[in-house]
Amino acid sequence: MPNTPIIDPKYSIGIDAMDAQHARWIQLIEEFRSIGSDHLLEEAGFNSAAHALEELLKYTKTHFASEEQYLASHHYPDLEAHKLRHRELEAVVAKLLDETHEHKVKGAPLKLNLFVTIWLLEHIMGEDNQYARFILGKP
Ligand SMILES: [Fe+2]
Ligand SMILES: [Fe+2]
Repeated sequence: MPNTPIIDPKYSIGIDAMDAQHARWIQLIEEFRSIGSDHLLEEAGFNSAAHALEELLKYTKTHFASEEQYLASHHYPDLEAHKLRHRELEAVVAKLLDETHEHKVKGAPLKLNLFVTIWLLEHIMGEDNQYARFILGKP
């Protein structure tokens, strides 16, 4: 395990177990974001973007599954809607990964959709914060 990241307080939802997973997730989001912040023309650039996305997708699935289990154990009333949102976000990351591979094959410059990373971060600050308020009993 590399260094264990600490959650940026602005992303903390106040539940340690989920904050720890979010910290790792954000680290992978940032890694992808830094690689994808330019148009990539070199094969090496595509390879590292694809690799970073693969890691991000893998951990996204791990985190979402774990969070869904956690929410089920707390009888979170909006679990079904939250799961649906997770499936949408997974699909967006998977699509971006496909596109990355596709562009690499065609040799075209890749305009990475960095909005994806913003949506992932917004999910923490929005929907994840909502369940945290429910579980922590805060208004
Ligand atoms: Fe989450
Ligand atoms: Fe979530």
